[in-house]
Amino acid sequence: MSEPEERVRSLLDAGELAAIARRLGREIKRDYPDGVVLVALLKGSICFLADLVRELPGPCELDFLSLSSYGDGRTRVRVVKDLDLEVTGRDVIVVLDIVDTGLTLAYVLRLIALRGARSTAACALLDRQSRRLLPVEVRYVGQVISDEHVVGYGLDLDERYRNLRGLEVADEADLRADPAAMFERLSQR
Ligand code: IMP
Ligand code: MG
Repeated sequence: MSEPEERVRSLLDAGELAAIARRLGREIKRDYPDGVVLVALLKGSICFLADLVRELPGPCELDFLSLSSYGDGRTRVRVVKDLDLEVTGRDVIVVLDIVDTGLTLAYVLRLIALRGARSTAACALLDRQSRRLLPVEVRYVGQVISDEHVVGYGLDLDERYRNLRGLEVADEADLRADPAAMFERLSQR
């Protein structure tokens, strides 16, 4: 088996992440000239949202939604923090860190549609298409990725590693073995 050092790699550095936010910001600006409500999913989307929203100088409102999954295989989802804004009649973009099985996004899109939004779309920093359980459309995609765990730039493993500047790919066992040492190593890259 290879050493942990060889099983970690940088997926996107700060410059590449900024370029993704700029590109997606341009696409959203083009599609929503009259403004949009961004609904960010806590907590993984916070860094991405912060970069994306500053690429949208036009009218734009922000809200946050926090969900928690539970049950067998964690396939059931419930609301932990609901929206504050009224989205009836509004154009809404859901902002996510990553779409994996699609269960979370499907739930959120349905919730927002039930509240009477005029339109809904999704914007995800990462799209792991290979693990989809539900078919969901992600209109704005930062990057498609394969089946490895990603941390940093808001994304966690057991609430750790969100504060890394870049996005790193690593083996889950390695990330759990000695988190302090692993954080140190990843943060110096
Ligand atoms: P889904 O409902 O399976 O699409 O899961 C989406 C959520 O799982 C994301 O919003 C993340 O919070 C979490 N998630 C999935 N894969 C990763 C990963 O590689 N790193 C960190 N979080 C992840
Ligand atoms: Mg998480």
